[in-house]
Amino acid sequence: MKTTEVRLGSRSYPVFVGEGILARLSGLLTRLGFSSAPVVVSNPRVFKLHGDSLRRSLEAAYGPAPVVFIGDGERFKNIASLQKVYQGLIRAGADRRSWVLALGGGVVGDLAGFAAATFVRGIPYVNVPTTLLAQVDSAIGGKVGINLKQGKNLIGAFHQPSAVLSDIGTLRTLPSRELASGLYEVLKCGVIRSEKLILYIERNLQAILSASPSALEHVVLEASRIKAAVVSSDEMEAKQRMILNYGHTVGHALEAATGYRRFKHGEAVAWGMMAAVGFGRELGLLEEKSAQRLLRLIHRVTKLPTLRGISPGRVWNALGRDKKFAGGRIRMVLLPRLGAAEIRNDIDPANLKRFLKNFIESSSNI
Ligand code: NAD
Ligand code: GLY
Repeated sequence: MKTTEVRLGSRSYPVFVGEGILARLSGLLTRLGFSSAPVVVSNPRVFKLHGDSLRRSLEAAYGPAPVVFIGDGERFKNIASLQKVYQGLIRAGADRRSWVLALGGGVVGDLAGFAAATFVRGIPYVNVPTTLLAQVDSAIGGKVGINLKQGKNLIGAFHQPSAVLSDIGTLRTLPSRELASGLYEVLKCGVIRSEKLILYIERNLQAILSASPSALEHVVLEASRIKAAVVSSDEMEAKQRMILNYGHTVGHALEAATGYRRFKHGEAVAWGMMAAVGFGRELGLLEEKSAQRLLRLIHRVTKLPTLRGISPGRVWNALGRDKKFAGGRIRMVLLPRLGAAEIRNDIDPANLKRFLKNFIESSSNI
């Protein structure tokens, strides 16, 4: 097991990464000062696969832990599920000394974290992420929230977890499409901060995609270190944290324009990264050799859902509604070179609109 840390003064917390963490969870938690059973939030699918090891470990230290189930999937990251978690907390007799443990992917983590942020004005929570995306991204950094039918993550808070425990073993049951989708977020971390991580993915792609424990441990740890360092330097996303949104300006717009049905999040980010590479190239950033290298790797990870039939106008409108479109100006993260990112607020909207139309039309046959 390896450890990294999010450093935020008295709210600092460890991120543990390794095989078999679920089985030794309560030892780690008691050392962190948790002395009573948590209220567990999960979904039936994840709990069926990994709930027994969690339960055994928690029971040994704390006795039985109540479990609240929410439905499986993005559409359950909503107010009704939140209400269910509050009711579960009340049924369990929770008060300000209680704590929540989230076992699942980003949907469970975001929702359980938001419940913890708001129940009796805030109680601690611990993330036990079970998707690659959640281990390297959503479980770290304290962004918690739910969706409204008008848009994703419109209700939320910053509420840092007390610990993140990423058991690599849980990724063995993850469908291959989810694994590949999460890998794009790992790649994004390399692209913005570490050429070494890009090189590792290039050299070990098959091992990662076939869920080799050592390869997964390496990429989860490296991406977690990068995310932890960025969050430690800018918790509230005043500036530096925005680099984590590389590929997300266009990625989010593609997800919204297709009703969140066509792409997994990481797949949309992959298209978004390709668009950002193309746009950066037009602006004279990122040398051709590096651009080609990144595009090649993105295509090697998996065959992405096509852009065919997506209306550039709808993508443009979705982009306009995005939180990154601040005060009428588009903010985009671009790459001066692989392993470094810069935040640009000087994007000419007409130029981006024209580029995007060409990009969608010319990529539609891939
Ligand atoms: P998810 O939570 O829906 O999980 C994907 C699917 O995998 C689900 O069906 C889930 O039940 C299943 N699953 C989870 N673990 C499994 C396992 N070990 N074995 C088999 N199946 C398993 O999706 P996700 O990709 O983990 O997260 C997406 C969510 O994360 C979105 O809501 C997004 O907005 C959010 N997100 C948040 C942040 C943040 O900073 N808070 C960052 C990125 C994404
Ligand atoms: N997922 C982007 C962030 O946490 O800031």
